[in-house]
Amino acid sequence: MEQRAHWGSRLGFILAAAGSAVGLGNIWKFPYITGENGGGAFVAIYLLCVALVGLPVMVAEVLIGRSTQSSPVRAFHKLAGAGSGWVGMGWLGVAASFVILSFYSVVAGWSLHYTYLSLTGFTVNLEPSQFEPLFQSAFSSPTLNIGWHTVFMGLTMAVVLGGVAKGVERWSRILMPGLLLMMLILLINGFTLDGFGKAVDFMFGFRTDKLTAAGALEALGHAFFSLSLGMGAMLTYGSYLRKDDDIMGASITITVLDTAIAIAASMILFPLLFTQNMEAAQGPGLVFISIPIAFAQMPGGAFLAPIFFGLLVFAALTSAIAMLEVTTSSFIDVQNWTRKKATLFAGGLIFVIGIPSALSGGTDLFGADLEAVIGKNWFDAFDYLASNWMLPLGGLGIAIYTAWRMNEAIRHDHFLAGSKLQVFYKAWLFLLKFLVPVGIILVFLQAVGLI
Ligand code: PHE
Repeated sequence: MEQRAHWGSRLGFILAAAGSAVGLGNIWKFPYITGENGGGAFVAIYLLCVALVGLPVMVAEVLIGRSTQSSPVRAFHKLAGAGSGWVGMGWLGVAASFVILSFYSVVAGWSLHYTYLSLTGFTVNLEPSQFEPLFQSAFSSPTLNIGWHTVFMGLTMAVVLGGVAKGVERWSRILMPGLLLMMLILLINGFTLDGFGKAVDFMFGFRTDKLTAAGALEALGHAFFSLSLGMGAMLTYGSYLRKDDDIMGASITITVLDTAIAIAASMILFPLLFTQNMEAAQGPGLVFISIPIAFAQMPGGAFLAPIFFGLLVFAALTSAIAMLEVTTSSFIDVQNWTRKKATLFAGGLIFVIGIPSALSGGTDLFGADLEAVIGKNWFDAFDYLASNWMLPLGGLGIAIYTAWRMNEAIRHDHFLAGSKLQVFYKAWLFLLKFLVPVGIILVFLQAVGLI
């Protein structure tokens, strides 16, 4: 049997894992759901969810990965035994990565399309009123959607084919600093705009009247999505760690980075909106309709627009790499396939599953029937299924397994190994035992309409 692949360095793991966490969830979704939920209060609840639920689950996932040196399916095989129902948790993770990546790639495709458009100067050539029809026509074009979906999945597969250190890690080392640099340029721009003060007030002014149960629960679901939890991505990346790496320390770094970048993305987008006197609650069209309008109306917009859409592409790519790595590494572990065979098979299958999502905005070949039955098109149905059900369920399983079933000696030993943060062990275990399961079950109750 081949020896387990490992990261080339501790920084490599942190960059790859942060790359997995920082994605469309931070730059596209977090600002628009914050906008829809009225700002400050939602942000405060989100921060609590990240610290009290997200961080403990991340530590648990990485710990399961490192202690078993395996991808999700084989990890539960090793821990709980081949016939155990826990192995199903591993498969759930693989299924979730299929579902999420299939529609994620379509949104990433729009980002590629908009990078191309902004490089060819669309913010200069179009009137503000033309951006909404532009997005609608791109969204409903089968050729564009399938074309960019193909390009994006191709890029993702090319990186994963390179393996752990030479593919995932190497590209994370290039893409993540690039991403941070682009963010910095845009953030400095946001800081100079008139709308900056209003954006600060919107993001950090705590208005209790904006607090709702649905918003709080959306915050929890998004914490899972944004931190890449509940589908075995952090578990898989953790499986490439060596025993002397500090799991708690690395998890804190990744969580803080992910959260800081979501907030920074909001501090890039809201000043742009407020300077143009636009509303915060723009919904999913925020990044693809409102932001191009803002760029079109400001000096320097033609220069900043490609930077912004390039940033989206970089962020999406490092997240997609993590999702494909979950399935690839599972096929390598479970079927004993070569990396090449596993990547081509998993990537190819995800590409095919993504086709109905890519067609969702257009003729709606498949989605039409589905929409009549469940009231959602294919794309929305996948997003809903994955974010509201599969990830929280995965997170619940991981928390319960680690806190209630895992051998105490292994758990304790792996938490302490290489860590200076041993004092957190008891607090971590306490959160994982009680608060995390209760929080997740609340999400489920809300989703089925019981609360
Ligand atoms: N965390 C990524 C984002 O915010 C999405 C993701 C989810 C990536 C699960 C990997 C695994 O966009």
